[in-house]
Amino acid sequence: MAIGFIGTGRMGSMLVRALLGADHPLDEEVWACNRSPEKLDDLSLHHQKLVTGESMELARKCRTLFLCVRPGDTAAALNEIQAELTAAHLLVVITNVVELDRLAARVPCRVAKVIPSFAQFVRRGVSLMIPGPRCTAEDLAYLHGLLERVSRTYQVSEAQSRAATNVASCGPAFLARFCEEWAAAAHRMQPDIPMEDWEWLVWETVRAAAELPRAGIAGREILEEVSTPGGMTYEGLAAMDAVLPAMWEEVMRRTAEREREMKAAIRL
Ligand SMILES: NC(=O)c1ccc[n+]([C@@H]2O[C@H](COP(=O)([O-])OP(=O)(O)OC[C@H]3O[C@@H](n4cnc5c(N)ncnc54)[C@H](OP(=O)(O)O)[C@@H]3O)[C@@H](O)[C@H]2O)c1
Repeated sequence: MAIGFIGTGRMGSMLVRALLGADHPLDEEVWACNRSPEKLDDLSLHHQKLVTGESMELARKCRTLFLCVRPGDTAAALNEIQAELTAAHLLVVITNVVELDRLAARVPCRVAKVIPSFAQFVRRGVSLMIPGPRCTAEDLAYLHGLLERVSRTYQVSEAQSRAATNVASCGPAFLARFCEEWAAAAHRMQPDIPMEDWEWLVWETVRAAAELPRAGIAGREILEEVSTPGGMTYEGLAAMDAVLPAMWEEVMRRTAEREREMKAAIRL
């Protein structure tokens, strides 16, 4: 059966592109729709195999539907497809703001959540899978098979999802921000080296460090290898120790608070 993506903004189009370009192509047709035509036109221009239509048509043709709209657009998108949804559908949302129990009370089908990551643009990173009401073992196996084409998968409960999202999905942005600040500090210290060169140095170092676990050298061991007690790296790490735990606490606290606010505000 076909698979459909409702909403081809950043996440929807990224997932469609990743799946259509995956090494193991899908057997089923991939359908997509978007509220405004431009993004969809652009996507189908580059992917001849993509089938496009209105959301109601997607609901008629596809048994798995990914709802890739912003939380505030969820109710309207559901209204459009409501009449076509049956128990045979698997409806997948991609935001923590839409709670699966509330969604399941609104639709007759099986529901699940997948939290993607922009890292799937390069078919890497982790997709979080969260089963919801009526979701079967077959549904999970299907989602696993689908998402493993473009990422690794990791299953969590909805209660665990905020913390996991802060790593797997917010991660590329958090890391980019960290690296930007790092390059900027180096540039302030040594402005005669251009900023582009600092950015290149930082990202090349991150890429290399990310490969070290593959060689059997992971987190704590990297610290031991690089940081000689009393040396300069040791001193730099002491400066980080003074701020990093509090910073990550605050990141976790504020994302959770924002999610609670958005959940309270959303109408399905
Ligand atoms: N960005 C990330 O890294 C990330 C990661 C994980 C999860 N998410 C979640 O993914 C969701 C989408 O985020 P995004 O960044 O992709 O947002 P986005 O770029 O704004 O894309 C949303 C798309 O949905 C379309 N849309 C809205 N209502 C629709 C409807 N009724 N039928 C068809 N299409 C409709 C919009 O069309 P228009 O062109 O008319 O606006 C837009 O193209 C959010 O809930 C976000 O929390 C995002």
